[in-house]
Amino acid sequence: MSAFASKNGVLHAESVSLPDIAARFGTPCWVYSRRSLETALDEFQQELLGIDSLVCYAVKANSNLAVLDVLARRGAGFDIVSAGELQRVLAAGADPRQIVFSGVGKTVAEMELALTIGILCFNVESAGELERLNTVAGSLGRTAPISLRVNPDVDARTHPYVSTGLKENKFGVAYEEALTLYRQAAGLANLEVSGIDCHIGSQLLDPAPFSEALDKVLVLVDQLAADGIVLHHIDLGGGLGIRYRDEEAPTVKAYLLPMLAKLRQRQLRVLLEPGRRLVGNAGLLLTRVEYLKPGEVKNFAIVDAAMNDLARPALYGSWHDIVPVVPRQGAALPWDVVGPVCESGDFLGRGRELVLAAGDLLAIMSAGAYSMAMSSNYNSRPRAAEVMVDGTRAHLVRRRETVEELYALEQRLPADAG
Ligand code: LLP
Repeated sequence: MSAFASKNGVLHAESVSLPDIAARFGTPCWVYSRRSLETALDEFQQELLGIDSLVCYAVKANSNLAVLDVLARRGAGFDIVSAGELQRVLAAGADPRQIVFSGVGKTVAEMELALTIGILCFNVESAGELERLNTVAGSLGRTAPISLRVNPDVDARTHPYVSTGLKENKFGVAYEEALTLYRQAAGLANLEVSGIDCHIGSQLLDPAPFSEALDKVLVLVDQLAADGIVLHHIDLGGGLGIRYRDEEAPTVKAYLLPMLAKLRQRQLRVLLEPGRRLVGNAGLLLTRVEYLKPGEVKNFAIVDAAMNDLARPALYGSWHDIVPVVPRQGAALPWDVVGPVCESGDFLGRGRELVLAAGDLLAIMSAGAYSMAMSSNYNSRPRAAEVMVDGTRAHLVRRRETVEELYALEQRLPADAG
């Protein structure tokens, strides 16, 4: 059962009612369910029982320390893409030996930090990065464990903005160049070839492209073995989709089983980098209707959350269910649910059939992934509070920003500037 369900006509997060959360912490406010996070991780770990494996949560989806903490306590590792994320996961208590470092633009400073800490693996995305990592590792007297992120050139059949495994994408090394680069890597003194990595896109609803990519990667694994380069792990990336509206998202079993079958006879540790699937449906954005503005052509419900909080509808045209916290009786009207930001693209949902009154609370669902993480301060709007519900308790896990904090790093020109 979803952790967000109605009890006596009032939407709850686990055992805490959303009106209580709004009264305690204000709106807009992100609400996460601990149970939901744990259940999502368990689903992966169940399928991987008895298999040498590690689920490395893709931190970019939601990097709140409490989210990282909940997952780390259950044995998750982490997939990071910056020094910032590295510092976050360490602050949350992560084990360095369970961290993989992805991303196309790792700086020298980021490499130094990760090498000093001693992470599990660098997912290298270019020839230039390979060379740089070798130099940086040498200068620190360390050996860098690496895998190459191979671009298998398969079509993930998802939104073009989140498709990453095609030739035209900036990610990974071209399939045809991978062998040459691996040979090069094997000859570099300060690198240790450890695995192979592949991530083809996000919000995939069909397991087939994952298997297609794996087939191609395994051809490389065999070619490398014939060359005497034996890999220890295979990182299958992230990308498994969730239900936002009425999509049929595959079960973790349906996603993993075909791939695990292909890996059964092999001595390869399995790494995964799920992001959205672990957190997406474990969070919602709680908002209050400020004004109703019915019109001739459209009806606008102006709420206190906006595109600076949740950018996905404006950015990708993404759908998020919008649910009244305490449903009302009456005739539903189609409402465009919009924020106060000065952009026509500032909408959270369009044409939603709802019965509304000013002051009502609405829950924007499936807002655990790429939501708070992609928020901004546009229009000088402080970022909303984040609350983690755990059974009957609601913990404030990030307090609302203050306006003073928004300009705390700025200053006016000096008095003598004229
Ligand atoms: N590994 C790598 C190397 C990635 O680039 C990503 C996501 C993941 C793992 C996790 O993918 P997931 O399991 O969450 O699909 N902002 C977009 C999604 C961007 C995904 C970026 N990379 C959105 O809101 O839909």
